[in-house]
Amino acid sequence: MTHIKNVRNVLCYAIGNGGLANLSNLLETRKQQIKGIAVLFLDDFFRTQHDVINQLGIGIADELIFVSTKDEPTTDYVDQIIDELHVRGIESPSAIVGMGGGITMDVAKAVANLLTNGGRAADYQGWDLVKKPGVYKIAIPTISGTGAEATRTCVITNKRTGLKLGMNSDFTVYDQIIMDPTLTATVPRDQFFYTGMDAYIHCVEVLAGSYRNVIGDAYATETINLCRQVFLEGDMMSPVNREKLMAASYVGGCAVATSYVGLVHPLSAGLSVVLGLHHCIANCIAMRGMEDFYPIEFTEFWKMADLQNIAIPRGVCRNLSDEQYEQLYASTVIHEKPLTNALGEGFDKILTKERAMEIFRAM
Ligand SMILES: [Fe+2]
Repeated sequence: MTHIKNVRNVLCYAIGNGGLANLSNLLETRKQQIKGIAVLFLDDFFRTQHDVINQLGIGIADELIFVSTKDEPTTDYVDQIIDELHVRGIESPSAIVGMGGGITMDVAKAVANLLTNGGRAADYQGWDLVKKPGVYKIAIPTISGTGAEATRTCVITNKRTGLKLGMNSDFTVYDQIIMDPTLTATVPRDQFFYTGMDAYIHCVEVLAGSYRNVIGDAYATETINLCRQVFLEGDMMSPVNREKLMAASYVGGCAVATSYVGLVHPLSAGLSVVLGLHHCIANCIAMRGMEDFYPIEFTEFWKMADLQNIAIPRGVCRNLSDEQYEQLYASTVIHEKPLTNALGEGFDKILTKERAMEIFRAM
């Protein structure tokens, strides 16, 4: 067991059906403490969900920004939002809200950091580069699994460098989470599965890694336990299972915050950077090549997909050019910390270019 580093958790969280109704009170209290409007980032899906929007208590002066989830966030996209906020004279809001999936929650985190720290998004891609606390921020997950509501990073892709890396910082951690399981009732079944599996895979990777610690193990073990209840026993989208998965997402995020992911995530990042596949579906596709590395969980993963009747895309790396395979490999091996966690210091002797190509072809 390794020593645990000094981990910062989310300050406050609430979980329960109907919890969304508390947002307006939280924003009001915040505005009384600190002058300034609220900036709310909402997943594009909610553009037409007026009954949900009406519950948010958005003030006349507040700024509502819909985040497109078609593509994963880029440094350019985050910079563009910052520029637009500056043009509108919004420099120091009293609160930022990120309501949606991992993309929206991560965009809100990045914007909160940039508003107080200045500069461009790419300046903070890495570990502990953020120097000042970001704007006070609230996460409202509307799909469960990424753990973005709990972690100290916000994953963004820099198209120029091919780097898919977040602002790893204590200042990236949310101040408040509202977990309202009613919000996940309308998620399409396949998305619900792909995203839920992110929590499962995070914790499989944590428990199989070399940077283990007692707290991370406890969080990860319980996350996997919850995922097994959700995906191996009956309908994964029953009300009780949706609440369990929301908890698993948060607890799984806490597990990752104490440690590192493993082999699935670097391969998945390669698929996202080169083929534009979204994180959670890319993880599921990467699981096709994981039999030798995580044999028990490999079998369990496919059992879960089978029981819930979810199809995982196949053959995404067929017919790629040599150049694309090179890019896939480069965008994978750049993730040294997770790869070291999974395979040890000499990870490149195990995950050679040839071995990685074999895995990608098997997907
Ligand atoms: Fe993930």
